[in-house]
Amino acid sequence: MATFEITKTKKSRLNEINWNDLKFGIYFSDHMFISDYRNGKWDGGRIVPYSAMDVDPAMCTLHYAQSIFEGLKAFRSVKGGANIFRPDMNAKRLNNSARMLCIPEFDENLLIEAMVELVKLDYDFIPKVRGQSLYIRPFIYGTGSFLGVTASETYRLAIITSPVASYYPEGLKPVKILVSTEYVRAVKGGLGMCKAAANYAASLKAGFEAHKKGFSQVLWLDGISRKYIDEVGAMNIMFVIGDELITPSLERGAILPGITRMSVLQLAREWGMKVSEREISIDEVVESYKNGTLKEVFGTGTAAVISPVGLLHYKGMDMVINNNEIGPVAQKFYDTITGLQYGEIEDTRNWILRIEIS
Ligand code: PLP
Ligand code: COI
Repeated sequence: MATFEITKTKKSRLNEINWNDLKFGIYFSDHMFISDYRNGKWDGGRIVPYSAMDVDPAMCTLHYAQSIFEGLKAFRSVKGGANIFRPDMNAKRLNNSARMLCIPEFDENLLIEAMVELVKLDYDFIPKVRGQSLYIRPFIYGTGSFLGVTASETYRLAIITSPVASYYPEGLKPVKILVSTEYVRAVKGGLGMCKAAANYAASLKAGFEAHKKGFSQVLWLDGISRKYIDEVGAMNIMFVIGDELITPSLERGAILPGITRMSVLQLAREWGMKVSEREISIDEVVESYKNGTLKEVFGTGTAAVISPVGLLHYKGMDMVINNNEIGPVAQKFYDTITGLQYGEIEDTRNWILRIEIS
């Protein structure tokens, strides 16, 4: 077990939080973890009070976006203490993203230990309301100062945490999604399968325009033929057509391999559902809507959890899904995953990292 140098805050931010209106990602807890990469290695890291970080105007990340991140959550368990959901998967994915962006990998165990220490230290920041949690945001960025387009030789990994309510103001109520025909997010060979900051920059204009029209997010089609479904801005997407659960396969290489997606697929297979990871075209979705076999559409993600889609808009056509209500399949996944996260359902799959608080 690593021991970090810990400098505790002199003034807690706990009283600044409006617990009745947490929203998503606007409040931050007292401490953060920092580790720096210099001369070919990461240092052992330290926990310090949450504070602004120095940025040189020529810092390469500001100019060329050599930056990656992760997102996971700690929950207040009904058994006391805290539960983190599948942190090993996030640690692994962070390093997959690192490899794609020429960022040096970070020790996965050390990352998990740092998150555990932070959660222990800032346990009081974990909301007490079911449906809320402490969002953990590890990120790495190049810290070199230069203007040539090249990978940095120095990096910082930081972890901050944020008490959050649901990602969408709608909560578990169905969201409205616009199928983007104008913009694309990623193509095979690009960064689509990484959690790279640049992917989110690429999504902003489409998201902004969708918001103006009253939609929560954009559903991306593949960047080449604009025919096959990729994913939504901050979640993977699933369809229940007839008795089959269908989600786009990861093979095209432009979709983020979501940890919630992976968990839902495992549960579905365990429950004996018919599951397909395959190409699914927007035309197939429209066709199934028209012939009445499209039963449910929902997104999966750490921030989004399980988010039912109540309306899909494509080329002037409004497809109202399941009467704009959450369907039984989405509800069952939501209940099971959140039940595990809050410690109400026994964790038989080793998905939960328990943190005892003394
Ligand atoms: N797709 C994108 C683009 C995302 O940002 C996220 C959120 O992390 C997901 C999918 C879902 O991934 P996960 O379930 O690991 O949170
Ligand atoms: C997450 O679900 O963790 C995300 O990263 C989505 C979004 C907040 C970018």
